[in-house]
Amino acid sequence: MSTSRESSFRKLGVIGAGNMGGGIAQKMATEGFEVVLVDLDDEKVARGMSIIDSTLAAGVERRIFKPEQVDAIKSRIHGTSDWNELADVDLVVEAVFEDRDVKRDVFRRLEEVCREDAILATNTSSFSVTELAEGSEHPQRIVGLHYFYHPAKNRLVEVIPGRETSADAVGASWALQEQIGKTPIASADASGFVVNRYFVPWLNEAVRILEEGEADIATIEQACKTAFGVGMGPFELMNVTGVPIALHAATTLGQEFGPLYAPAKKLAQQVESGEMWNLDGETDESRFEAIGRRMLGVVFHVAAALVDEQVSTIEDTDIGARVGLRWPKGPFELMNRMGTDRALEAVREVCARWELDVPKTISERGEAARPFHFRLVKTDVRDGVATLTINRPDAMNALNESVVEQLHQQLRAAATDPAVTAIVVAGAGKAFIAGADIRFFVRNIDAGDLDRIVEFTKAGHALLEEISGCAKPVVARMHGLALGGGMELALACHRIVASTKASMAFPETGIGIYPGLGGTQRTPRRVGPGLAKWLIFTGQMIGGREAARIGLVDAVATPDALDAAVRTAIESAALERPSLADDHAALETLFDGNEVEELRAGRAEVDDNERLAKAVKQVRFKAPIALQLAEKLIDASTQPLEEGLALELDHLTEIFRTEDAYEGLSTVGRRRPEFKGR
Ligand SMILES: NC(=O)c1ccc[n+]([C@@H]2O[C@H](COP(=O)([O-])OP(=O)(O)OC[C@H]3O[C@@H](n4cnc5c(N)ncnc54)[C@H](O)[C@@H]3O)[C@@H](O)[C@H]2O)c1
Repeated sequence: MSTSRESSFRKLGVIGAGNMGGGIAQKMATEGFEVVLVDLDDEKVARGMSIIDSTLAAGVERRIFKPEQVDAIKSRIHGTSDWNELADVDLVVEAVFEDRDVKRDVFRRLEEVCREDAILATNTSSFSVTELAEGSEHPQRIVGLHYFYHPAKNRLVEVIPGRETSADAVGASWALQEQIGKTPIASADASGFVVNRYFVPWLNEAVRILEEGEADIATIEQACKTAFGVGMGPFELMNVTGVPIALHAATTLGQEFGPLYAPAKKLAQQVESGEMWNLDGETDESRFEAIGRRMLGVVFHVAAALVDEQVSTIEDTDIGARVGLRWPKGPFELMNRMGTDRALEAVREVCARWELDVPKTISERGEAARPFHFRLVKTDVRDGVATLTINRPDAMNALNESVVEQLHQQLRAAATDPAVTAIVVAGAGKAFIAGADIRFFVRNIDAGDLDRIVEFTKAGHALLEEISGCAKPVVARMHGLALGGGMELALACHRIVASTKASMAFPETGIGIYPGLGGTQRTPRRVGPGLAKWLIFTGQMIGGREAARIGLVDAVATPDALDAAVRTAIESAALERPSLADDHAALETLFDGNEVEELRAGRAEVDDNERLAKAVKQVRFKAPIALQLAEKLIDASTQPLEEGLALELDHLTEIFRTEDAYEGLSTVGRRRPEFKGR
């Protein structure tokens, strides 16, 4: 999903300064928006503001924020009980009590005070968006935005159009979520939306297993942790988030979807007792498998039903679990892991017990014992522009074999589609693309299969060459992090338009390798060999503005103006290269005028220039062989591009065979690598 309306949000509103509203306002302000936060009276406003204060103070203690950032965030939140202050907001989210009449009344008041084109969103957990919009004057601007606790920290948000909601309102709301660092997934307007529809039965089924005397709490907890790979079992989670909330949610779902979803009696009894679940006890390992299978069966059934009913897609269902619940794998990935044939058996048991139909989504796969395939790239064609979005919003290293293959297929389709005049390459979630799949490299080095790494890289080269050779303009829309392979993908596009929030780097030499997807060739062609060496030898991270100053990207725009800038880039002829400011000119001279060995040995002249001294220091931490090869390849960038690219591929096995490559790749995220120059 993407936006067609020009989404320029400046000022936002939130109604209800409680658990959810306060956190939503905090997150919006953290991302730079002015927020008007409204509650019933000044006392409630003050209470909400003080909760925000303490959450932010805790953030300072944990070094997430600097004190001055917190001051800036707080200065952007304006708490008030005066609704008239919402007169100029662009979008408002209501997070008041879960009461239909209260919420309808809120919409009625919002229609009175807000501009006619303001979007009105509800954070309801259990009501239908369509129903809440009934009776309003402009139901086309009412949308569901379902956040998850804690809304300043949990990235997931479900975007729910009601029956009358306009595509523009949905697109613009979606774009705003990405701007505030959220990971949106789409949901139809159905009870429980996506995640709660399987998460609540997961909690409830655990209580049912207990009620039926199948196992005690400690055993069920551990069986769930093992089956789902999670850190907290259902009972502990209920203790943390509130047992009554689980009962309330199961009651609502039960009314809608029948007895499988209806609350276990013991859940109601527990709420009545006012007690938390007692997690103590010995675990009985012999019960783990049966319990795990039963719990998985329930989740698989619901997940497949969600897809059958077109409430969600397999991709979004899984993203919801990974991002919203922090499960390592989503339901469909878990089905693949188990084998879809065995997953189908587990679902059949659930369906037999509750007299339910087996959802087609799982029966078709399971009967053929074929795994689910995930659409990792989605194409959206609008006004002749095909946007190819890499949809792995929660994957740090999104570029893997499947993504390259799907991107290639969809690029070809767009390139040959007569209705398409231009192509945009984009990423979903926080990053544009934060690089290639590092675990893939480590796995294949472990297996001694360097050929597979070469094949993957060749497939990447073929894709990138097709992008750069495409007869239609191809623009990279870089809204967030672009690292390594992500940078290289962007560099193959005809134009790169970066957000002021984008940041980019070539981390390769710091993990024992060199940029192997054209980075050593296309970077010097854009910024010259000196600055290419600076970027590749140091791994220095730079922002969108700096990248535009040195010509690494063609244009830079604030997040809300990014789509307009992309359109301008599509229409523009050759863009001018900028002239370098002093600091970059000095970096260029340093890296152009010294061999990497001189830089490493500290023999290069840096005068008293701190930036140069820092850059030289950075080089010393990189893998020596990777640096030498990168230097050789960048120096070869004066050759025709094809020859330079071929040379880059030629050295691939050599670099992946080094001890330093293994050291660098296998320690990512764990510790600083120790390179030996071997
Ligand atoms: N708590 C969760 O985990 C969670 C998760 C997702 C969605 N939600 C939904 O978010 C909404 C809010 O939940 P919460 O947990 O933050 O509730 P809460 O009780 O903590 O906060 C609600 C706030 O709304 C204020 N309020 C009530 N009526 C109002 C009105 N007419 N005008 C202005 N302010 C008003 C209250 O004073 C209170 O401060 C509910 O719809 C809930 O279903 C909650």
